[in-house]
Amino acid sequence: MTLQYWLRWLSLQGVPRVVLRVQSRRGDTFARMLGPEGIADPHPYLEKLRAQGTLVKTPLPWVTCDHAVVRTVLRDNRFGVRSSARIEIPELLQKFANRVPPPANPADPPAMLRMNPPEHTAMRRPVVSAFTPRAIQKLRNRVETVTEELLDAMPANGSVDMVEAFASRVPIAIIFEMLGLPPEDQEKFLFWGEEMTPMLDVGISWRAYDRAMRAAQQLNDYLDGHIERLRRAPGEDILSAMITGGDLDHYALKANTSIIIGAGFETTANLIGHAVTLLLSHPEQLDRLRAEPELWPNAVEEVLRYEPPVFITARSALTDLELEGIQLPQGAMIMLSLAGANRDPAVFDDPHRFDVARPNANQHLAFSSGVHACFGANLARMEAGHALRALFERFPDMRSAAPPRLRRQLTFRGYEHMPVQLGRSAHATRSAAG
Ligand code: HEM
Repeated sequence: MTLQYWLRWLSLQGVPRVVLRVQSRRGDTFARMLGPEGIADPHPYLEKLRAQGTLVKTPLPWVTCDHAVVRTVLRDNRFGVRSSARIEIPELLQKFANRVPPPANPADPPAMLRMNPPEHTAMRRPVVSAFTPRAIQKLRNRVETVTEELLDAMPANGSVDMVEAFASRVPIAIIFEMLGLPPEDQEKFLFWGEEMTPMLDVGISWRAYDRAMRAAQQLNDYLDGHIERLRRAPGEDILSAMITGGDLDHYALKANTSIIIGAGFETTANLIGHAVTLLLSHPEQLDRLRAEPELWPNAVEEVLRYEPPVFITARSALTDLELEGIQLPQGAMIMLSLAGANRDPAVFDDPHRFDVARPNANQHLAFSSGVHACFGANLARMEAGHALRALFERFPDMRSAAPPRLRRQLTFRGYEHMPVQLGRSAHATRSAAG
């Protein structure tokens, strides 16, 4: 089994990894952007790519940072996601590698992110239809309660790691509500989420892939029991609705549950993390939000534009076609830089300026577009909007205590640690006054 996993890694990640390393040494901009320097500060690389044209050939795929091209490709049904290996290994080895299906996970079919219509539609529909108004209302109530509990637990005038104490805690509680999970298992899911998300990156090491697969296996074992329990006694949660809806088989249920965890948890945690860092480093913008709190929803859009939690995605040509005057053969892959599109000067004035009142901030592509457009977008907006406003109202003097540390991942770009000094609690002041 390990040999089969290793072959899968070789095909999906290992070969691209070697190519990227070689090209990075040769100074290729795209390859360097995926390396440590690019992860720390990718925007100079994106601007270099933008200067080379709207569609740029790199040693691996094509790449675009152009808002119009990214949007067009995402919405064009001549492009799709690739469900097979990114770099072909001989067919015989491929067959051997695929003989044992991997544990259901967010990066392999039938996770909807890796399916094309019509199969994609069959996977997505039952999940979307489980988002009933009643389920959403429960989630809204839960966001309010969890935010309040987390803020109450923070030590006024003390320091915390904002990722650990808040940014990751709000989304994990919501995912638990959606999946009908017992709160005491949150730590396990935080661990599995952290181990599994690198799978969505390009060129990860065998060690990272192996860890991700082990985590996926543990999650599968856990979900076997949990889904069984919900089958016997369904709750009012979204997973119960997906189960009783009856459209998805057991493996597909697990794959699409893992994508709710993968796509719904770390992304929202990264959005909250980016927002805190940006607002602490742009005090004039925070002052503006204090003066005009009705700008909070727009501020969330501007954070999504300026630092999209999903940095990059990809599509492949399903047929020979022409794009931007260039002939692309079937199978040609295009990396779509959502972050690059979000700073396209053709759409956003002075795009490298962070401005919570930017009138067209919501034209960002942080939630993608087309058939795979994120259906958790409004939930994420509601979670982040409520959590951030409550956090900054509760701790008005909060400041950074040390430079925050980014995860070494590009696809899901966000902070691993963020030490902050909380300062006084406005809640305590109010209670004392009252
Ligand atoms: C700030 C938070 C979020 C961001 C930035 C985000 C971003 C994205 C993006 C960019 C995609 C599409 C990727 C592509 O086109 O290749 C996507 C898809 C998806 N998102 Fe989100 N997401 C967020 C929150 C959520 C939440 C809270 C949920 C859970 C309810 C969720 C569930 C999904 C699912 C299941 C898909 C796959 C949809 C499909 O393939 O049809 N996301 N998300």
